Amino acid sequence: MAIARQCLLVTIFIVATLFTGAIQGAEPIPDSKTPPTTPSTSTVTTSTAAPDTTTISTPGPDTTTTSTTAKPDTTTPPSTTAAPSTTTVAPSTTTLAPSTTPAPPQPAVGNWTIHQDNHTCAIFRAAITVKLAFDDKANKTQHFDIKVPYNATVGDPKCGQSANESISFSLEFPAGHVAMTFKQNHSQYYLQEVHSWINATALPDLAKQTNATNFTLTYTAGAAASNLPLEASVGRSYVCGAPAALALNNGSTLALASVTYQAYLSDGKLGPEQNCVTDSSPDMIPMLVAGGLILFVVLILVAYIVTRQRQARGYHSM
Ligand SMILES: *[C@@H]1O[C@H](CO)[C@@H](O)[C@H](O)[C@H]1NC(C)=O
Ligand SMILES: *[C@@H]1O[C@H](CO)[C@@H](O)[C@H](O)[C@H]1NC(C)=O
Ligand SMILES: *[C@@H]1O[C@H](CO)[C@@H](O)[C@H](O)[C@H]1NC(C)=O
Ligand SMILES: *[C@@H]1O[C@H](CO)[C@@H](O)[C@H](O)[C@H]1NC(C)=O
Ligand SMILES: *[C@@H]1O[C@H](CO)[C@@H](O)[C@H](O)[C@H]1NC(C)=O
Ligand SMILES: *[C@@H]1O[C@H](CO)[C@@H](O)[C@H](O)[C@H]1NC(C)=O
Ligand SMILES: *[C@@H]1O[C@H](CO)[C@@H](O)[C@H](O)[C@H]1NC(C)=O
Repeated sequence: MAIARQCLLVTIFIVATLFTGAIQGAEPIPDSKTPPTTPSTSTVTTSTAAPDTTTISTPGPDTTTTSTTAKPDTTTPPSTTAAPSTTTVAPSTTTLAPSTTPAPPQPAVGNWTIHQDNHTCAIFRAAITVKLAFDDKANKTQHFDIKVPYNATVGDPKCGQSANESISFSLEFPAGHVAMTFKQNHSQYYLQEVHSWINATALPDLAKQTNATNFTLTYTAGAAASNLPLEASVGRSYVCGAPAALALNNGSTLALASVTYQAYLSDGKLGPEQNCVTDSSPDMIPMLVAGGLILFVVLILVAYIVTRQRQARGYHSM
């Protein structure tokens, strides 16, 4: 029983030591700002904060600075916990440096405003890709991606005057168009129809693979579908960072990413956001956040108590 308790205490101590090291390494600013109340604690915190700031500001010579600061740490026994914190910070700066050079290929996000006469009825922002499935010259199914340019023009805008009427527009670009129709049902609006036409002649890379000169792609939302595409409450904007795909005919898909849109605008401005991820699973995310917070608070408390005990012990020895 006594051994088990000791083991538990030792484990808590190790975890807390690691955490205090991480906390001191992560937040050096409040430590430097707080006036030194006790001389023993101030010297410990400044010694740990100093190598962190130097490693962040200069990523190049951080290996030399850590090696020089690591030497006094090994000579002084109480500040041995500072050593893992500096070693964990150093690789994070080195991994950040190469990630800035290769820019991830992001499809251009368009920002289209739909208005008829003086009435703005929809705002549509998204990165749209038509993933075309086609038969090549050997009758083999192939795929070809057509990215809708962000500067595609809005054609044929129709702003329904009442809730019963649909809202539609066409995004026109050199290789074709993507037309969308939105409908309202009770207090919800959704994407009801997609009609796309692709001009293969305008896409030499596609034209050389197929005998077809053009492609007509359509999508219609199922009338009895429980999960309608791009559905949101009237008066709110639909926001979806996660990519979505609508199945068009003949194996083609319409890929949407970084969607922020709203149909049936009353004052021409986007309403409060309705997120496709968080609003569809309302129970799971708050639970995870609450659980994480509770765990964090408990660990902070343990770390605080252990640090205080250690500091008290340090005082006694001095
Ligand atoms: C979209 O365009 C409107 C003006 O047409 C502008 O006010 C708004 O800031 C733009 N939004 C984004 C995310 O580009
Ligand atoms: C649109 O607004 C202008 C003035 O800003 C006005 O002259 C014009 O008649 C309006 N058109 C419609 C269809 O309401
Ligand atoms: C491809 O299929 C069509 C019928 O779908 C046929 O008429 C044509 O001969 C086929 N071509 C080849 C190269 O197999
Ligand atoms: C409209 O919503 C009702 C329930 O809210 C549903 O029964 C009906 O099928 C919907 N109609 C369409 C066309 O989506
Ligand atoms: C299709 O693209 C070709 C090449 O850009 C162009 O000459 C032709 O007019 C286009 N067809 C239509 C119907 O727009
Ligand atoms: C589209 O292709 C069909 C044959 O597949 C052709 O008859 C039609 O004229 C084409 N339309 C345009 C606008 O090029
Ligand atoms: C879809 O496939 C069918 C049969 O393969 C073909 O008749 C039709 O033209 C295709 N539609 C489009 C838009 O390519």
